[in-house]
Amino acid sequence: MSYYVTTPIYYVNGEPHLGHAYTTIAADVLARHMRQRGEDVFFLTGTDEHGEPVTQAAERLGITPRELGDRNAGRFRELARALNVTNDFFIRTTDPEHAEVVAEVVQRIYDNGHVYEGTYEGWYCPRCADFKTESELEEGNTCPIHKIELELEHEDNWFFRLASFQERLEHLYAERPDFVIPQNRYNEALSFIKGGLRDFSLSRARLKWGVPVPWDRSQVIYVWIDALLNYYSALAYARPGEDLRDRFWPATVHLIGKDILKFHAVIWPAMLMAADIEVPRRVGIHGFLLLGEHKMSKSLGNVIEPFRVVELYGADALRFYVVREVSFGSDGEVSPDGFETRYTTELANEYGNLASRTLAMIDRYRDGIVPEAPPDTALAAAFDQLAEVVRERLDDLELTAALDEIWRRIKELNRFVQEEQPWQLSKDDARAERLDEVLYALAEGLRVVSVLLHPFMPESAERLLAALGREDVSLDCARFGAVPGGATVGELGQLFPRVEAEAPAA
Ligand code: MSP
Repeated sequence: MSYYVTTPIYYVNGEPHLGHAYTTIAADVLARHMRQRGEDVFFLTGTDEHGEPVTQAAERLGITPRELGDRNAGRFRELARALNVTNDFFIRTTDPEHAEVVAEVVQRIYDNGHVYEGTYEGWYCPRCADFKTESELEEGNTCPIHKIELELEHEDNWFFRLASFQERLEHLYAERPDFVIPQNRYNEALSFIKGGLRDFSLSRARLKWGVPVPWDRSQVIYVWIDALLNYYSALAYARPGEDLRDRFWPATVHLIGKDILKFHAVIWPAMLMAADIEVPRRVGIHGFLLLGEHKMSKSLGNVIEPFRVVELYGADALRFYVVREVSFGSDGEVSPDGFETRYTTELANEYGNLASRTLAMIDRYRDGIVPEAPPDTALAAAFDQLAEVVRERLDDLELTAALDEIWRRIKELNRFVQEEQPWQLSKDDARAERLDEVLYALAEGLRVVSVLLHPFMPESAERLLAALGREDVSLDCARFGAVPGGATVGELGQLFPRVEAEAPAA
């Protein structure tokens, strides 16, 4: 089966921050998990470089939008690399091949009769690159998101007949109850549609930085139309000489934050319908990480800056933290302090120590060879159906719930060590068989949780699996008892070492 997952393409008007890292990490967890299942995966991320927000930021810096794009697209690429993210392509809307596809599709929408000339008047927020309705405005005609005062603008440009798609969109939602998940976001999008849709302008007359409108080159295509089409255009040129659209379109899931729901759940499917292109299977929405100022942490200061965290603690720690701390789909606070607590108690102690103790005991009591023994029945029961449950959770985009399931088993393994006390068993020759069972169960349990953790924490899981002498990460082998003893264990070192606080810069 083919599986195509995307992140939003990020605006290059600023440096990447944790919020951007969040969606990219989540998409990578899904992509890696699907590869474990043997699916044919394509994973896309990239940057959104046209339009007002970028033009204005460049002006403030006294450079061209292209220069700003080059600079920050590079930073977003570095972020993906730093996070150990396995995107198959990185799209930039300034790629000439992208512009070609945008022009083609928009021309088709025009040829199909869904575009007309009109005059727009509205409250325009340059930071959103979007017009606001009266009812969306806050006091003093301010943008509800950016809190800046908006101006009433007039412009002659080209309109997309969004209103004429109301019925087809309602039909789509009725037919596909999982088109938008989670449910509350589906309801939100549907009630927006039912509230009545208004046509909107798909071009800008005032702006120069964008893809020219094919039939009226004095205007450029509205940045959101241009941007949304990235999901489709990338497949046309990501692999020279190959059109991946046959293999991967329609997209399996567009992962986005709740701020851009309307564009993805309403405008995007309507645009595709207008161009006779299949709509994506799903739009998956997550909440916001609340990145307020917090109590200072020893090593991180008061904000979670992704590059800094990765440098000090490694990519896995950050990947783990954002998925674990905030229930995927909801909003939630993150803080440097909270990060350090989870790093120490969960990663270093519950997982890291469990791994090093287990390996040390196998080394000491069994000459470094995992004993061959039947799987402990109580643990086998605790692990029963685990891979299936994780699979279901991830199919439903419940990343935090999937990780919770895995982590419960890590706690189970810790409890097992405490109860069985292998160090006591080792003192009594009559209990050698039980010691074999216990050590095998621990190695096997660690193997299974590590295979399942691989999409979340690839580097640590791989290191531990290598130390256990069992490197297969396919989901098929994530069953307790699937792999017999007999492997020779190796060195692990510390999976999550202590990080010393640096002296503050003088
Ligand atoms: N360029 C548009 C998207 C076009 S997609 C066709 C855009 N870019 S953005 O740089 O503003 O990125 C928005 C996305 O970044 C959000 O939808 C979300 O995925 C992510 N996040 C940015 N800040 C965030 C948080 N504080 N918390 C969680 N995710 C957030 O909008």
